[in-house]
Amino acid sequence: MKLTKELEERLKKEALKHLSKGRKDWDVPHTLNAVNWMRKLIEKEGGDEKVLVTAMYLHDIGYPVVEDLNKDRLKRIKELKRFHAVEGARKAEVILKKLGDYSKPEIKEIIYLVKHHDDLEIKSRNHQLVFEADNLSKIDVEAVTPTLSEEVYPLFLNHYKEFRAPLFKTETGKRFLNELLPKAEKYFN
Ligand SMILES: [Fe+2]
Repeated sequence: MKLTKELEERLKKEALKHLSKGRKDWDVPHTLNAVNWMRKLIEKEGGDEKVLVTAMYLHDIGYPVVEDLNKDRLKRIKELKRFHAVEGARKAEVILKKLGDYSKPEIKEIIYLVKHHDDLEIKSRNHQLVFEADNLSKIDVEAVTPTLSEEVYPLFLNHYKEFRAPLFKTETGKRFLNELLPKAEKYFN
């Protein structure tokens, strides 16, 4: 299904309400860029634009609550990561029902994608595309300025190359990854 311009505008407004309270200087530009990458992936690889682009807008809306918890010193990073996805899925359901233009199966699939977008065990084609769009956006230093420090960024990139890059499966995703990685590696050099 196509995502109409009218619905996308309303969806974007809802997503931005949450994202603007999320990780500073990151959640808004990262998400809008992930939406762009998703459109580029769909153009070459196919896929349901309405479900996939909506999932990208909503995938990180769980972060504001996580940030609050962080202030309460709940700092186990894995738990935080997991929680942002569960919380995001809960918020996504509320937003999708409020927007009103999504069928039950569409809502179910989008919630699934938001909840599992950070899982490294990828279980479906839609999940694969969401994983790739999110992770392309994470290293797209020309579009989104990294918020990590010069000391931490190489650690992030090493981890990314070891655990995330090998999980790219679509031809288009792999091609984009190979274009972005060298630029990310040069960013602080
Ligand atoms: Fe993300």
